[in-house]
Amino acid sequence: MTTIARPTTHPYSEADIGTTHLTPTYRVDLRPDGKDVFYQSPAIDWAALSWAAIGRPYRVERWSKEKQRWEKEHDEALPVKTSWEMFNRSFQQMFDDDALAERRTALRALGKGLGTLHLGAALEAFEEIVQETYWNQAHRIEDAIWDPRGKRALFEGLDVQKPEILFLGAADGYEAMQLMAQYPGGHAVLVDYDDYCRTHRFGQFPEAYPFLGVNPASGAPKVWYKDEMAIDFEVADIRELSYGRQFDIVVSIGLIEHFPDDYKPWAFEQHRKFLKPGGYAIMTTPRAQVRSKIFYTIFADAMNFAYRELMDVRHLGLYAHENGFEILRHGRIKAHNGIIAKVR
Ligand SMILES: C[S@@+](CC[C@H](N)C(=O)[O-])C[C@H]1O[C@@H](n2cnc3c(N)ncnc32)[C@H](O)[C@@H]1O
Repeated sequence: MTTIARPTTHPYSEADIGTTHLTPTYRVDLRPDGKDVFYQSPAIDWAALSWAAIGRPYRVERWSKEKQRWEKEHDEALPVKTSWEMFNRSFQQMFDDDALAERRTALRALGKGLGTLHLGAALEAFEEIVQETYWNQAHRIEDAIWDPRGKRALFEGLDVQKPEILFLGAADGYEAMQLMAQYPGGHAVLVDYDDYCRTHRFGQFPEAYPFLGVNPASGAPKVWYKDEMAIDFEVADIRELSYGRQFDIVVSIGLIEHFPDDYKPWAFEQHRKFLKPGGYAIMTTPRAQVRSKIFYTIFADAMNFAYRELMDVRHLGLYAHENGFEILRHGRIKAHNGIIAKVR
């Protein structure tokens, strides 16, 4: 195998389009299409669909030890914002780890634990091996979390030029960057009330990560990088935003499912109230598939700090329809359901 020496900034160019390869912590994927990108679901008559027909979303209720410990110590429910602070730190740790190196370390610890009959240490090392193996497969090999090809396909075909984009609960801001590569020349506001997202999750998002988009001058495919995009990060509570109807696109990725049904109308209103007339709301939620249930079981300690539902695309679409949206496109990507909608 030959290793190509690449510059550390902007290491990929248009010559790499069509290729994919693995770095220690993520997959570079500049393949423009493929069979595993976006499964657009057949048309649904949303007005005729009922909750009785599809049932309610699945709730993830296996909680992280850290959350349980906090609640025992404080004798109260973990405040929602604190739960996100815990989530963001532990989730980001998984993105930062070199999973295969961590697994090698855990394998050595397992051998040592078994050899010295420290069974507690051996069990801990075994759990670590399972997690690193699963994370390596899900994030690095399958790229099911960032899922650039699925997201590109979901986002394609929007009628926008140099869009103003608002990302609610932005975390690492990945999807705003993908949108800006596809619809260049615009500006994005990332909103998250956890400052760690500004400083670390987005702040330290790999500068070398290539986003496949378009060259606005020629219409040809082009590779974009974070530092070429006009992005502001606002550390704020979504409930306290004072924007007008000024955005072409309002996007959230894994936000809606954290609101129990009583709060869903409010959550959808946050996607509606900042949109220009004719603007697009893009929403995704994790899928109620067996693999996701396994993921949230194996990673309960790292992920499960707050209320979370797993849905299929009919759940997400029906919530959006009931809350005044016209659904233009709906389907599933690797780990999430996705819809593109306009205010009805
Ligand atoms: C589940 S995460 C989104 C998943 C994300 N794609 C990721 O990679 O983690 C939701 C994000 O929304 C933020 N968030 C939740 N409620 C919020 C609120 N009321 N105001 C601002 N941000 C909020 C959290 O801090 C968190 O970073």
